[in-house]
Amino acid sequence: MSGPGRSCPLAYRYRAEDLAGPVAFEAATLYVVGGLYGNPWALDAVRERAAAEPTPPEFVFNGDFHYLDADPADFRTVADGVAAHHATLGNVEYALTADDAEAGCGCDYPGYVSDSVVADSNAVVGRLRATAAAHPEHLARLADLPRHLTVTVGGRRVAVVHGDPESLAGWKLALEAVEPGDPTVRARTGWSGTPTGTDQILDWFSRAEIDVICCTHTGLPYAQDHHRAGRRHLVANNGSAGLPNFTGRRHGVITRLSTHADPPADGLYGLELNGLRFDALPVDFDTERWTAAFLGTWPPGTPGHHGYHSRISDSTWLRIEQAARGGVRLPGN
Ligand SMILES: [Fe+2]
Repeated sequence: MSGPGRSCPLAYRYRAEDLAGPVAFEAATLYVVGGLYGNPWALDAVRERAAAEPTPPEFVFNGDFHYLDADPADFRTVADGVAAHHATLGNVEYALTADDAEAGCGCDYPGYVSDSVVADSNAVVGRLRATAAAHPEHLARLADLPRHLTVTVGGRRVAVVHGDPESLAGWKLALEAVEPGDPTVRARTGWSGTPTGTDQILDWFSRAEIDVICCTHTGLPYAQDHHRAGRRHLVANNGSAGLPNFTGRRHGVITRLSTHADPPADGLYGLELNGLRFDALPVDFDTERWTAAFLGTWPPGTPGHHGYHSRISDSTWLRIEQAARGGVRLPGN
C-alpha cells in the first residue's frame, strides 16, 4: 500500500546489525519517553517523576515528541524540554525535517489502519509543519538526531528505536503483531498481516548484540520477555507517554530500566532481568490542562480533534493485564 502516511521512505530503513555499534552512554536508571505527542504536561510529569528517583535518570525521547503541539508556545515548550536530553527521530520529526511530502505523517501505517486515521494524521502533521517552519534552529537540531541509540544500563546493552529494529516507522513490534497473538487485541485493531514470531525477535537480539529493545510508535503499550540459551531478553513498547493508554485510566506510559533492584511503588508491570529492573511507569500529567490546550488547538471539526479527542477523553480499550506478556508481572503477582 502506498500514498501519504502509508509509505516507508528509504531513509527509515536500517538493519539490526546497525544497533550493534558503540554505546551512546551508560546509565544507572534510564527513562525511555516515546510518543509524547506534543503534550507539555506529560513532559512536566516525567520530570517530576524523575526527581523522585534515588539517582537522576537519563532520558531518551525516542521520537514523536512533537505532534499535537501546533500551538507555537506548546511547540517551543516541547522543543526546549527535549533539547535538554537525549533524543532520537520519530516519524513526526522526520516529516518535519524532510522535503519528502509523499511521506505525509511518515507513520508507514499498515493496511489494517483505516484511511480516516491516516488522513487525520497527515493533516495534523501538515499543520505542525507550519508551526515548525518558524523554528529553524530547532528543525536543524531535529535533522541531526539519530534514528536509534544503543546505550547500556548497568552494563546491559539496550537498543532504543522508534518503530522496530528494521525501520524507524516499522510496525513489527506492535502489540497486535507479536506472537503469541492476543485474539482480543487483534480483533480490536483489525490486525492482518504477517505475525512477528519469537524467532524473528531473538534473531534481532542476536544481530544487534542487545538484551533489551525499547520502542514506541504503534500506540499500545506492552512488555514481553524472550528466552534463549538461558538468557532473558525483553521488548518494551511504552505506547504513548503523552496520551492515555489503558481503559479507565488517563495517564501516559514510559519505560524505566534501572540497576536499582526495588520495584517502584507506582510500577504498572515489570520484571527483573538478570540484575536489571524493568518497569512501565505511569505519566500522571494534568489531564484538565492538557485537554483544555488540546481543545484550544484542535477544536471540534479539526483533524486533530477527529483523530485524537476520543483517546484523550476516553483512553483505549486495552486492559493493563493484556500489556504484561510472558514473564512480565503486575504488582503483587
Ligand atoms: Fe511514530
